[in-house]
Amino acid sequence: MAFPAVFLDELVQRNPIDEVVGQYVSLTRKGANLFGLCPFHGEKTASFSVAPDKGIYYCFGCHKGGGVINFIMEIESLSYPDAVRFLAKRAGMEVPEDETYRAQYRKQERLYALCKDAARFFHAQLMEPAGEAARAYIVKRGLSKSTVTRFGLGFSPNEWASLLDAMTKKGYTREELLDAGLAVRGKNGGMYDRFRNRLMFPIIDVRGAVIGFGGRVMDDSTPKYLNSPETSIFNKRKNLFALNVAKKSKQGRIILTEGYMDAIALHQYGFDCAVASLGTSLTEEHAAMLAKYTKQVVLTYDGDEAGQNATRRAIPMLEKAGVQVRVLRMQGAKDPDEFLKKYGADRFSQLLDRSENQAEYQLESLRRKFDLTDDAQRVEFLSKAAELISSFPNAVQREVYGARVAEAAGVTAETMKLEVTKAFKRRMARERKKQEKIDLAPAQQQQPKVRGIRYDNVRSAMAEEGLLRTVFKEPALLDEVTLDAQQFSSELLGAAYHAAQMRWTQGKPVSLAALEQEFSPGEMAHLSAVLAKDDCTVCEQALQDYIRIIREENARAHPAGGAALLQMAERMKQRKGYGG
Ligand code: UTP
Ligand code: MN
Repeated sequence: MAFPAVFLDELVQRNPIDEVVGQYVSLTRKGANLFGLCPFHGEKTASFSVAPDKGIYYCFGCHKGGGVINFIMEIESLSYPDAVRFLAKRAGMEVPEDETYRAQYRKQERLYALCKDAARFFHAQLMEPAGEAARAYIVKRGLSKSTVTRFGLGFSPNEWASLLDAMTKKGYTREELLDAGLAVRGKNGGMYDRFRNRLMFPIIDVRGAVIGFGGRVMDDSTPKYLNSPETSIFNKRKNLFALNVAKKSKQGRIILTEGYMDAIALHQYGFDCAVASLGTSLTEEHAAMLAKYTKQVVLTYDGDEAGQNATRRAIPMLEKAGVQVRVLRMQGAKDPDEFLKKYGADRFSQLLDRSENQAEYQLESLRRKFDLTDDAQRVEFLSKAAELISSFPNAVQREVYGARVAEAAGVTAETMKLEVTKAFKRRMARERKKQEKIDLAPAQQQQPKVRGIRYDNVRSAMAEEGLLRTVFKEPALLDEVTLDAQQFSSELLGAAYHAAQMRWTQGKPVSLAALEQEFSPGEMAHLSAVLAKDDCTVCEQALQDYIRIIREENARAHPAGGAALLQMAERMKQRKGYGG
């Protein structure tokens, strides 16, 4: 979806970056720039900067950066078009959408409104006479009044069309109820409510919009939980129950549970950082979202086989997303909800403090599989543990855990060290084989083509960076630069230069923020970093130097015509010389 450039220019102009960022981060002015604590990574000293003149933000700590649209994408977890709409709304601007898009967007807005009204309806039913059994169930589960209000819990009456009737009366169509996953079409073409006679849990996204529901039976019938199907506004892979509340927690971690009831019970007992995955295993999208809000995730899945498998799968995903993982083991209760009721918040707090890091968790899980009083099993445990330890990326960890295992299994630390080293070598050999296979695969299968952020020619790239800083500060100087984007050694910097030239010749404002449409967030972050390096008082002599260096380096890399022949001759001569 491409928005017209004139619209984007106005959008960026009417959403000054210092104002927009200022709504999320408290900023202090230092010279031309503003500084604050980075909202994207925890920090105590301000390394997050905003340059209003350039229209960009950049964090010197975590290297996130970009224009105002990137900022909103990042902080509100929105796609590019949705971030544009968000900013348009903020500035009171109409978004020029093409008709199909506009229709789709309007339709989604209707579904959001419908889900919100449905949540209100279910909640109100709790107060009705028919809600008696639900009220009793709530009491039985130990949920307080304020918990019921905070999570907007509700009740779906034991009728075929109570929600359908109430919502159509409000002006929603039956189609819309179907599209929101709230109604189901029967075999004979009739329609009825999906959720009947259940305790209702609204599922709310990080922005606070109701996007779906979970409904629990109040007896032993099945299915125990019924969830909204995937709809155009509800994606299980991308949403976590209660994250809208947990993201504001000050507890410095997020507790990940398996169930609605676990998350809710934790909140009620004061752990306002609990979330639940929605009846699916953790996805990479979940992990990335969690990484946005916290540095540490504590897994509290059930101790059964399924829960352990889920834990094992979740660990590498979370680590890859950059969060520290801890695993909490519970004894005497099957899930956090049960544990809290039986033993209380203090005991759970102790468990949290004692939760194992993932190395400890994996070793302990392994140890439990063996009887260490049996020699044969002890040997097997040692070899498996050595294998596991050899996969730890850091030498101190390998040493510390190696010693610990040695002690548990009654061998010397030296013996263990030897085992780990052997396992390490075996692993390296395996990886080398794998790598060889990859190297043999056709080049284009290995990597999608992206504009490289790494520099092949540093001398040229430094000049290219300087040139970009100069012209973005003083676009009129673009008239003096007759370079071709192809002459840049860095494709990305060349593309940014080209875009600036295009905009300048078309009489459009030249700012990095205006380029957000053409560059990926990763590329924008890099460009922001380039422009944020403030060495630059605009100086024409420096500009001429940059141009000269770029030309020189380009000529060296791509000698044309006669120059190429000369160079080839030179090389032949050299080769002869060496040959003797
Ligand atoms: P559990 O069966 O562990 O339930 O399912 P629970 O969380 O302990 O719930 P209570 O305490 O019995 O009320 C965990 C999660 O798996 C999903 C739900 O998201 C639930 O919260 N689930 C479970 C379903 O989607 N459908 C089911 O039929 C059961
Ligand atoms: Mn439970």
